[in-house]
Amino acid sequence: MTRNFFVGGNWKMNGSLSQVNSLVEILNNASVPSNTEVVVAPPAIYIDRVRQAVKKEIEVAAQNCYYKASGAFTGEISPEQLKDMGINWVIIGHSERREIFGESDDFVGAKTQYALSAGLGVIACIGEKLDERESGKTEEVCFRQLKAIAEHVKDWSHVVVAYEPVWAIGTGKVATPEQAQETHAALRKWLAENVSKEAANNTRILYGGSVNGKNAAELGKKEDIDGFLVGGASLKPEFADIIAASSQ
Ligand code: PGA
Repeated sequence: MTRNFFVGGNWKMNGSLSQVNSLVEILNNASVPSNTEVVVAPPAIYIDRVRQAVKKEIEVAAQNCYYKASGAFTGEISPEQLKDMGINWVIIGHSERREIFGESDDFVGAKTQYALSAGLGVIACIGEKLDERESGKTEEVCFRQLKAIAEHVKDWSHVVVAYEPVWAIGTGKVATPEQAQETHAALRKWLAENVSKEAANNTRILYGGSVNGKNAAELGKKEDIDGFLVGGASLKPEFADIIAASSQ
């Protein structure tokens, strides 16, 4: 099975209307290799504008969602509302949500389950912090986070796992291709042993953390790296180079 390359752009809480318009222009001019899926996640307020303006082959994601269809949940957005606006993907469990907004493994699992049941694809994020890596706990932490997600997933065809070591996010300190490959291979093995061979073979595992136009191609050559979740560089013209990385 060849896994299609997947490039996600997480804009986080960045941008203005004029920046959003320039990013859409960059995306509309970017050539997307036929084996690559591109999904960008603008801040919620710009999602609809981006969906309307960006070319159809590029998908749009929310950066978060809640796990109810509607109701008294001030400030939240439901998966049903995203679907209603033509949005097919959501990022769940990003380390910033876990760390700054206190999202637990269980909450991330519950949101993943609900988003999938509502028909969204989920970019499910996991990753260890620096002290956890330094104390040899990378696999323990990643497996624990992946387990909390896997317990809520029946059909893996709409799940993409993003391995994002927290120490590499926004720091300019990218994992080496070897470091990333080692963890990706361990995650794939975990899926094979705890879910199924099919899920292990077919699920895209993205690397995230200081990916840029220069390091993407080398990272992307690794056997178990099936794409990227890109933060800072997804706000720059070099995002087009990252999209092209799979064809280099
Ligand atoms: P970064 O962010 O590329 O700016 O390190 C990645 C992410 O948080 O998804």
